[in-house]
Amino acid sequence: MINIITVDGPSGVGKGTLCQLLCEHTGFHFLDSGAIYRSLAYGVLDKKIELENQPGLVALASVLPVEFIDGKVWFEGQDISLTIRNEDVAGMASKVAAMPAVREALLQRQKDFARQPGLVADGRDMGTVVFPQAQVKLFLTASAEIRAERRVNQLKNQGVTANINKITQDIIERDQRDMSRATSPLIPADDAFVIDTTDLNIHQVFDKSKQILQNCGI
Ligand code: DC
Repeated sequence: MINIITVDGPSGVGKGTLCQLLCEHTGFHFLDSGAIYRSLAYGVLDKKIELENQPGLVALASVLPVEFIDGKVWFEGQDISLTIRNEDVAGMASKVAAMPAVREALLQRQKDFARQPGLVADGRDMGTVVFPQAQVKLFLTASAEIRAERRVNQLKNQGVTANINKITQDIIERDQRDMSRATSPLIPADDAFVIDTTDLNIHQVFDKSKQILQNCGI
């Protein structure tokens, strides 16, 4: 049996940082499933595959030439770690991620990340679809306002000025789309521990998570 910890929730909720701390704490491997969707989106843009060409999208998803090495993302030998974080790729990722056939084509790829001594899996449907057998399922939430505030601060640190109202509105719209999509909607698994991070800093979220892991024998 391989120990699996799933961490699901909307974007900007702090999943990435928590997963990093959980990996250090447990020594487990890491699956950034969002990076898989983003890599596919990169490939779709790079190869100019039309969104209407579903067989083309599924064909690429089935053989996705992406590798994760030492925290970097490689696509056909090219380091795309930074490129997949840009807005064009993010927009395309959310479109391809809404297609059931694409999700199906990426399913086994994600399951293959489960290796000893264990896995921390970051995404939207890790606890519900990809690893329903996971020992510990965490689901993070936070108000749209606080997520927007965190995003603005993140951008500020990168020297980018942003409009908080616009970012809040974008987040609300994306949440609505993610939660209402027919395939793998963003919802907590029945057996997930839901942590509202609105009034918590990352250390408090980590402490709560460690407590849950301990109670689950990890
Ligand atoms: O977490 P992220 O922002 O890197 O995710 C990129 C896109 O992929 C985003 O639109 C949500 C989607 N995604 C998904 O549908 N299912 C996952 N398990 C992970 C990400």
